[in-house]
Amino acid sequence: MARLGVNIDHIATIRQARRTFEPDPVGAVGIVERAGAFGLVCHLREDRRHINERDLRLVREVCRSHLNLELAASDEIIRIALEVGPEVCTLVPELREEVTTEGGLDVAGQLSNLKKTVERLAPITVSAFIGPDEAQIMASLDAGFFAVELHTGEYANAKSDVEREVQLKRLARGAETAAKLGLYVACGHGLTYHNVQAVVELGVFSEYNIGHSIISRAVFTGLEEAVREMALLVG
Ligand code: PXP
Repeated sequence: MARLGVNIDHIATIRQARRTFEPDPVGAVGIVERAGAFGLVCHLREDRRHINERDLRLVREVCRSHLNLELAASDEIIRIALEVGPEVCTLVPELREEVTTEGGLDVAGQLSNLKKTVERLAPITVSAFIGPDEAQIMASLDAGFFAVELHTGEYANAKSDVEREVQLKRLARGAETAAKLGLYVACGHGLTYHNVQAVVELGVFSEYNIGHSIISRAVFTGLEEAVREMALLVG
């Protein structure tokens, strides 16, 4: 059965709109777990634009399931990750001007650096957020990553059925290649209640990490119901 990781950054983004104390992403942890998600995902960005250190430490304290911390390969954030001890660290690229994480990590282009980062994060399991491209997948294996999370953004943003099919095939090929190499294969970014089914039908992913669509639906249905519906779709 595939796993659902719920990204709670988007709750902190709403809080940030007013620079206040609510909604508190820490309050989401128990609800997400009760609703049947496999775990929680959050991203501690260098600019702290949504999740901050206080959130991360409290999320760690109350999370009884599985915590996946997204981070850039920066000294400060690696130090915090080692202190906090999530079950998984996902290395992502981080650009200050982007609205969200726009592209995958160029593992092939920074192999030796990332190899060191994976080693520094030991004993935490480390995943690489990459495009579904063979070169990046091979490089992720070489760098010592345990897992890859394939970026579904290009599929999600496809403007036509033909383009969607092309992107689905890329994802399927990428996931199969990664799995054959022995990597654990997750995916995420831009997945919604409407577009996730086609990805699930590929039958190649062990995990789906989804945030924006779930938190958007939660505005109308409540978080527990929103997570339950998504868990049913991916499970
Ligand atoms: N996976 C990674 C690595 C991400 O950076 C994000 C974006 O926060 C997601 C999954 C979830 O993307 P979305 O919020 O579009 O569902």
